[in-house]
Amino acid sequence: MIRGQKTKLRAIEREDLPTFVRWFNDAEVRHYLAMYMPMSMAEEEKWFERQLEDQDGKVFAIETEDGVHIGNIGLHSIDWKNRRAYLGIVIGEKEYWGKGYGSDAIRTLLGFAFSEMNLHRVYLTVYDYNERAIRCYEKCGFQCEGRLREARFGDGRYHDELMMSILREEFVAQ
Ligand SMILES: CC(C)(COP(=O)(O)OP(=O)(O)OC[C@H]1O[C@@H](n2cnc3c(N)ncnc32)[C@H](O)[C@@H]1OP(=O)(O)O)[C@@H](O)C(=O)NCCC(=O)NCCS
Repeated sequence: MIRGQKTKLRAIEREDLPTFVRWFNDAEVRHYLAMYMPMSMAEEEKWFERQLEDQDGKVFAIETEDGVHIGNIGLHSIDWKNRRAYLGIVIGEKEYWGKGYGSDAIRTLLGFAFSEMNLHRVYLTVYDYNERAIRCYEKCGFQCEGRLREARFGDGRYHDELMMSILREEFVAQ
């Protein structure tokens, strides 16, 4: 368990997979994510098997203090030489959006990434229309460092994708 102020991060279990499939088949959630095809349990089971072998990535379940599993957060493409990793997050239980759980989970994971995993840089990408996520990342200290023009196609048109990052010294100075 990695404990934050209002969330805790735990390992994901095989029993969590039906919950992930429910979240990722919700169009409102998927609107903000790279995935766009309907997802089956079989695909999710395959993904889980790959996770178990992945030395360069780790996904955690986000739970509230009273143990409600509301989302996932992970570090991906961990580059152990350059000490950097890509952060991904989803709160799948929509009634928990905009209540501070995402920023708490991110701060908690950043603390772990910088203090325990000895990472130097954590980065992410976000679609320009995802204002809630951008605000959440800025609150956590991420800075926008680039704009991938028309990198995302969705709802019949192209959207820009923003690149954001935070360095260890910026996180520590907060
Ligand atoms: C993005 C996500 C992880 C953020 O977590 P969260 O718990 O909702 O975020 P927080 O409540 O910590 O912070 C959100 C901030 O945006 C603000 N906000 C909420 N809705 C907003 C909106 N529609 N437009 C702009 N800002 C908004 C909130 O008020 C809050 O800012 P404040 O603390 O200054 O008031 C979560 O909303 C989520 O999983 N969304 C769906 C999937 C997704 O977008 N994943 C990220 C892909 S890059």
